[in-house]
Amino acid sequence: MKRGLFFTLEGIDGSGKGTQFERLKAYLAAAGKDLLCLREPGGTAIGEKIRQLLLERENETMTAETELLLFAAARAQNTAENILPALEAGRWVLCDRFFDSTLAYQAGGRGLDREPVRQSILLATGGLEPDLTFYFDLSPEEADARRRAREAESGGRADRIEAEDLSFDRRVREEYLRLADAYPRIRVIDASLPPEAVWEQVKTILDKFLQNRLSGSGEMIRGPQRRAADRGEAGHDRSGNRKDQSFTYI
Ligand code: TYD
Repeated sequence: MKRGLFFTLEGIDGSGKGTQFERLKAYLAAAGKDLLCLREPGGTAIGEKIRQLLLERENETMTAETELLLFAAARAQNTAENILPALEAGRWVLCDRFFDSTLAYQAGGRGLDREPVRQSILLATGGLEPDLTFYFDLSPEEADARRRAREAESGGRADRIEAEDLSFDRRVREEYLRLADAYPRIRVIDASLPPEAVWEQVKTILDKFLQNRLSGSGEMIRGPQRRAADRGEAGHDRSGNRKDQSFTYI
């Protein structure tokens, strides 16, 4: 059985990652693959309880070390219970945040030493890495403005980590950019553009990635959503005949 592909999304709070997650989910699912969608922290019964502990505003005395270990605990459970079995069964996995968040938030944002942070990640994941990571890059000022607008609209309140100040978000962003420089699997998306233009960037990168990964592997991806417009094609060949859109090799 060929191992499935593992995709992750990253970005500071308010970067529009949630909207793009939904689009990516629909796009990958329509590509005919059995897709498992997850979020971190969370994704398991234990992980969702840990998520509550991590995000509740009343837990403001939580130390950076406790925070790190709770994220690691939730991830260990998610990796063992969901991600590894799915990948081994050949399924594709899409996860809203994974260990890059820990490097960006706990090492970058909180200022914990990188080495113990890496060790906690290794313990939780056994060395599992995503195949492709989309990092939605946005200035902390703009992300903050979007978050405030969202809160005003929904009447919601920032969680414990969202409530951090702009300088925290600046450190998180810096660390994300450093990681993106170091790891080719992390692709930087300009999240300051309107959602449609952000999605175009994601789709272009994803299509190219899948083409590379799947070409020659004999895998056929069904793509009802891959309309001619998505592929940048007119939908007709040079003789004016309509192209077959029911199956596409990508
Ligand atoms: P969530 O509401 O899921 O935020 P978002 O919708 O922006 O993904 O809350 C998760 C928060 O936890 C978010 O502020 C990022 C933070 N986080 C870490 O600090 N470290 C981690 O390892 C992970 C997975 C998340």
